[in-house]
Amino acid sequence: GIAWIENEFVPIGKARIPILDQGFLHSDLTYDVPAVWNGRIFRLDDHLDRLEVSCAKMRLPLPIARPELRRLVMELVSRSGLRDAYVEIIVTRGLKFLRGAQAEDIIPNLYLMAVPYVWILPLEYQNHGAPAVVTRTVRRTPPGALDPTIKNLQWGDLVRGLMEAGDRDSFFPILPDGDGNATEGAGYNIVLVRNGELHTPRRGVLEGITRRTVLEIAAARGLKTHVTEIPIQALYECDELFMCSTAGGIMPLVLLDGNIVGDGTVGPVTRMIWEAYWDLHD
Ligand code: PDD
Repeated sequence: GIAWIENEFVPIGKARIPILDQGFLHSDLTYDVPAVWNGRIFRLDDHLDRLEVSCAKMRLPLPIARPELRRLVMELVSRSGLRDAYVEIIVTRGLKFLRGAQAEDIIPNLYLMAVPYVWILPLEYQNHGAPAVVTRTVRRTPPGALDPTIKNLQWGDLVRGLMEAGDRDSFFPILPDGDGNATEGAGYNIVLVRNGELHTPRRGVLEGITRRTVLEIAAARGLKTHVTEIPIQALYECDELFMCSTAGGIMPLVLLDGNIVGDGTVGPVTRMIWEAYWDLHD
């Protein structure tokens, strides 16, 4: 892998974050993650759009102009030599104590890295589906928590959810919100299929670009899609369930808390979406 840090390209093992960086000290940052497949970056402009919106919501200026950032990401990927990669673009509020607290004094820091593609669902699960659990850990949502549409590294609840899942022989937590509705998991959105229609949570989630792609694929084939409140109970009553993320694509879930989802196999809608999604990467 390769990183871009303090205006230089460096091998990933040599990249170092300054200890005074606000991102490290206070998670005062936002980031985005496009993937590279067969040497092509998938929906880069959508990721840069989301990064710009996240920066604006955090009152964090983008450190360099958008066209320059785009060019830098392309150069990073080409220098990495990787055909399939996972690219992180991280914007932090820069070095603490060295600047005043006024917004106009802030000089944000930009970090980039490209590393070999990471599958969050081990490949052996892709064909047969994986087990998921609904956690007791609640996804922290506003008021009181960071707006989840801002991509951020405040993963305390998600990591706790991962551990809870691990205790119950699963790697895939689904976190409820405080009102008993489903939100998302540790780096992925969830989608359920019921009577041939897709449903995915509206609140308490990052608006995933993979999920957007899924909804576009479904709509193009005439399937109805709903971005709406999903009570946890609906997860147990659906025909098909899957998670979706840049890190893994479309990932079928066939067991929920030990109960079979639908008929316990990867369903036809999930399979169709999986195929259409990977066709977009050729
Ligand atoms: N994670 N929800 C959360 C909390 C996420 O961190 C992610 C992505 C998603 C899916 O979004 P997208 O489809 O745009 O990748 C949902 C990335 C891959 C990560 O942090 O590594």
